[in-house]
Amino acid sequence: MLAISIVIVCGVADDMPPPAIDTILYTAEEIQARVRAMARAIDADHQTDDPLHVVGVLKGSFVFAADLIRAMRTPLTLDFIVIASYLDGATSSGEIQLLKDLDSAIEGRPVLIVEDIVDTGRTLHYLHAVLRARAPSSLKTACLLSKPTRRAVDAPVDYVGFEIDDRFVVGYGLDHAERFRHLPHIAVIEPPAPPPR
Ligand code: PRP
Repeated sequence: MLAISIVIVCGVADDMPPPAIDTILYTAEEIQARVRAMARAIDADHQTDDPLHVVGVLKGSFVFAADLIRAMRTPLTLDFIVIASYLDGATSSGEIQLLKDLDSAIEGRPVLIVEDIVDTGRTLHYLHAVLRARAPSSLKTACLLSKPTRRAVDAPVDYVGFEIDDRFVVGYGLDHAERFRHLPHIAVIEPPAPPPR
């Protein structure tokens, strides 16, 4: 309850009141336990000497990626790619934009895409096509959250943190109109508020 109050107080700095947070879906402790388990599974699957090239998809994955790589024991290198797929609010535009590409080539290297959430699957579908064309030695994906009922295109995920219902979630990197990314837990906004003008 304390965390919810802090969010509301901090949010009034803008001219528009923040949408109400309904429930906490996963606490910080639950997330950390799940992230550690995912890291163990990735470590167990990656048994080659080649460093795993971890590709975080910004912005949403930055918190998850930071925790996941620190829980992993396998050698790794890190890069980020910036993708935009949503309008500034609760609904998806359906369009994918590559705003920043990887810094290094991935040909012949094992690659792990790290996503915060897979919703329609369009972002991941696009990323798979773009990165596969660069001939990595392997291409796997870890996502913290997945909404299987929302899937519109094929987007296989190798490591899933939590499968969730079709609810608008924020926190732990996920935003609503750029708010709430800093929350250590994952919370639900219900109903989704319209985007600010
Ligand atoms: C979110 C999320 C995924 C994508 C998933 O990114 O981080 O990349 O949407 O949606 P999809 O499965 O329907 O394609 P967003 O475009 O909101 O940007 P952000 O990462 O900066 O929050």
